[in-house]
Amino acid sequence: MSESLIIEATINGFRRSFEVAVHHTLLDVLRDQLGLTGTKECCVVGECGACSVIVDGRPMNSCLMLAVEVDGAEVTTVEGLALGDGHLSPLQGAFLDAGAAQCGFCIPGQLIAAQALLDRIPHPTIDEIHEAMAGNLCRCAGYEQIAKAVQAAAEAANS
Ligand code: FES
Ligand code: FES
Repeated sequence: MSESLIIEATINGFRRSFEVAVHHTLLDVLRDQLGLTGTKECCVVGECGACSVIVDGRPMNSCLMLAVEVDGAEVTTVEGLALGDGHLSPLQGAFLDAGAAQCGFCIPGQLIAAQALLDRIPHPTIDEIHEAMAGNLCRCAGYEQIAKAVQAAAEAANS
């Protein structure tokens, strides 16, 4: 029988306490236990960024973290980006306006990486955007639209 622990973490603004198997990744727990399936499972070896979430302000690959590592942490998934009234965030709106969401499989991770960047650097340069998004692969090659969306969201927030 696998060992489990009870951990407490703030998930999308809500403090939650839940039991996790010690060998389960954060990705497993988010998707299979907490029902937060917006975080995508793809390569599971830290190469695609589809599973990105923000942990204590930093974008992380949830497929490479054990769930027990977020005990006491603040975690934001793509479900936590929408505004309190359920409307899309300005960043999500900018992705739509720029045509950045194509197949959508990589978009949750792209949004998370972009949000973490804008939280850290509200006025990023195009180079900073490309650098921050470099760990997030898009098979539709929508990189230009994605970078434009991040720029537009930054400009809108600062106008
Ligand atoms: S699924 Fe985690 S980096 Fe690809
Ligand atoms: S929009 Fe990213 S993989 Fe298609």
